[in-house]
Amino acid sequence: MKTITVLVGSLRKDSVNRTFAQALEKLAADKFRFVFPDLGAVPHYNEDLWQDLPQSVSTLKRQIEEGDGVLFVTPEYNRTFAPLLANAIAWASRPYGKSSFMNKPGAVIGTSPGAIGAAAGQMHLRALLPVVGVIQLGQPEVYLQWKPGIVDADLAFTDATTREFLTKFINAFDTFIDRTALDEAA
Ligand code: FNR
Repeated sequence: MKTITVLVGSLRKDSVNRTFAQALEKLAADKFRFVFPDLGAVPHYNEDLWQDLPQSVSTLKRQIEEGDGVLFVTPEYNRTFAPLLANAIAWASRPYGKSSFMNKPGAVIGTSPGAIGAAAGQMHLRALLPVVGVIQLGQPEVYLQWKPGIVDADLAFTDATTREFLTKFINAFDTFIDRTALDEAA
């Protein structure tokens, strides 16, 4: 069982990205345990705060470091990724040389009610992650258009094709984490 730190870029009570992550957690229950850091508790990035580091930040860094992998789940805001994620990533990437993401296997997914399924937002996030040390899964990409009923009240994906596709993603991420660990050990 692998522990995956899941960073969801929305604080909204009815966030489709959070629901997506929770449904994926259920689908992946035989392989992954998801940990959801509280990104809403993390203050706006301010270099001065390192003098007396907020516990929310040290907890975030520890949760990322302890995980076997990190999953970024982003809404798309104005064709880029969510500012909540930008803030969390800034904190976790510092101090310089001590990024919590260093050599951590990671993957990006996201959803939006729009037809492009957060694709443009995900692309921007993908460009940033290697800079902070994430070793990134390339395929399969997951661009999910969120429609009413796509997930039922028990957090199950209702469509078999979607379930199959997301199972492929889960398996690919699982294998990728194993491969990255082998590379690191070599
Ligand atoms: C959006 N939304 C949006 N959707 C999209 O597909 N492309 C976009 O560029 C944007 N831009 C955008 C900007 C801002 C400021 C907001 C608030 C929203 C819509 C967005 O995808 C939708 O609100 C999702 O439901 C947000 O995700 P959560 O909060 O439901 O997870």
